[in-house]
Amino acid sequence: MASLFTDRRGRFSWIRSLTLLVLVAPGTQLFVQWMTGDLGGRPIREFTHGTGDWTIYFLLASLAVTPFRAVLDWQFLTALRRRIGVAAACYAGLHVLLYVIDQKFNPVVVITEIALRFYLTVGFVVFLGLLALAITSTDAWVSKLGRRWKTLHKLTYPLAALGLFHYFIQSKADVTAAVFVAGLYLWEMLWRLLPRRLRLPWWPLPVLAVAASVSTAMVEAAWYGLATKIDPLMVLQANLEPQYGLRPAVLVLGAGLVVSAWALVVRVRIRTQMRRKVAA
Ligand code: HEM
Repeated sequence: MASLFTDRRGRFSWIRSLTLLVLVAPGTQLFVQWMTGDLGGRPIREFTHGTGDWTIYFLLASLAVTPFRAVLDWQFLTALRRRIGVAAACYAGLHVLLYVIDQKFNPVVVITEIALRFYLTVGFVVFLGLLALAITSTDAWVSKLGRRWKTLHKLTYPLAALGLFHYFIQSKADVTAAVFVAGLYLWEMLWRLLPRRLRLPWWPLPVLAVAASVSTAMVEAAWYGLATKIDPLMVLQANLEPQYGLRPAVLVLGAGLVVSAWALVVRVRIRTQMRRKVAA
């Protein structure tokens, strides 16, 4: 059986150990900053923000496993998906705990706030969902649920969308960071919508990058249009004007094109290796 540092055969695994280190590092850094008074005037609020961010990042990292394994031929990722997902749930737990600490452990305040403030209710639903997925991530649950396990774990898709919604609402006036993260999520979900035969080759990826970028720009414009009085057309136009810097839609396009170029290199390498084998 695999453990924290070993693979299923009980051998020490560098990749599993390194991943564990990467997953634990942000929480440790935030904790050290808290202890050394490095988190500013409202350290618990800052810690809450930090853990919220890392919950979303690790959730999206777990959703990136399937597309990256396919297009970059990174087969090793499969063995890491479970711990990335569980890490996301742990960061969500820490995030909620910090919120409870911030409310001085007052259960009445915590319960009424979660019940009455919409963004907290949404966060709570996502937290319960992630908890359920983490509990059922063990081998015992996989064999117990059989085929239903996969269906259950597809809940990650709507949970990530709701987590992003919570991120957007609490961002208030400036949703730039939330829009960028939402753009990465859109790329991951659009890839899953591709017909199976288009999931391996590299050439649909630049098209996917453009589609994810356009969708990101639309989400941003729609958010500002619906949640503020800012003209959505002006928001769309800002993507084409260099004085506004690198807008989230542009960054998503860049990230998508980097993955496309990488996938092209991988495909060329695989083809060259196959030719050599055939020639030999
Ligand atoms: C009971 C559940 C939850 C509660 C009570 C909660 C509470 C909060 C609070 C109080 C904030 C800061 C808001 C502010 O400063 O105005 C926040 C921010 C945030 N939360 Fe949650 N949250 C919950 C669940 C989640 C979950 C499950 C996720 C991820 C999937 C998440 C992701 C975030 C993110 C990304 C931020 C923004 C961080 C930033 O601005 O850098 N939260 N949450």
